Amino acid sequence: MAPPPLLEVADLRFRYGERAAVDGASFAVERAEIFGFLGPNGAGKTTTISCICGLLDGWQGAVRFAGADFRPATVVADRAKVGLVPQELALYDDLSGMENLQFFGRLGGLSGAGLAAAVERGLELTGLADRAKDRVGSYSGGMKRRLNIAAGDLHEPQLLILDEPSAGVDPQSRNHIFEALRRLREQGRTLLYTTHYMEEAERLCDRVAILNEGKLADLGTAAELAERAGVAGSNLEQVFLHLTGRSLRDQA
Ligand SMILES: Nc1ncnc2c1ncn2[C@@H]1O[C@H](COP(=O)(O)OP(=O)(O)OP(=O)(O)O)[C@@H](O)[C@H]1O
Ligand SMILES: [Mg+2]
Repeated sequence: MAPPPLLEVADLRFRYGERAAVDGASFAVERAEIFGFLGPNGAGKTTTISCICGLLDGWQGAVRFAGADFRPATVVADRAKVGLVPQELALYDDLSGMENLQFFGRLGGLSGAGLAAAVERGLELTGLADRAKDRVGSYSGGMKRRLNIAAGDLHEPQLLILDEPSAGVDPQSRNHIFEALRRLREQGRTLLYTTHYMEEAERLCDRVAILNEGKLADLGTAAELAERAGVAGSNLEQVFLHLTGRSLRDQA
């Protein structure tokens, strides 16, 4: 029998007061895939991710990891299974890149030679070894994004969740990020990836889910989505607009 998916989210619901931010979302992420989690502003992507990672509690539905209930908010052993690269940069400008990684590594329980090896791997993965001793305040936007990725991945979680890791970076840094993520996939790691760049999702992701107003509009390869939407041969941006409409979001 095939093993269960690495991550299963079933009928997930979360409200901020009266506002239903996630409204019955269901999807599964397979092992060693890059899973694109797409949707317009305010669709509920970050909220869904926060529920999965245990940053938000009080949600309804089910989250399972390799077939077992997943509760990193309360079960310490679950925390090491997932890593988060948050949408907002979470770095200390006054520390160097290396000191940031050492700090986050210690928070994650690493120490000694294990910590040193993890920091070195993170700097190498993200192409920051040459600037490791410089203050992060002196880094470009792309370098900060890359360091943010290294920080989320220090403990080599089975599932790495990246919330818009390429927002506002130039094509050079973006390509570097893609190569790093592909290397992780080749090592058998699983990535859940959020972006607003449709062309990027088409290039990088094995499958994509499109979230719209807290619900899944569709899930599959870009070609499958186009076919199901009755716009076969269209690119992912056209499919995305077809499934989510053209009106502006998040202005309520
Ligand atoms: N802390 C909060 N309090 C109240 N409402 C919130 C809060 N965070 C998000 N929301 C609302 O919940 C909905 C989903 O927001 P969320 O940030 O999950 O969307 P998103 O898909 O990540 O959007 P974006 O692409 O802009 O990052 C939106 O309507 C948003 O305004
Ligand atoms: Mg978001």
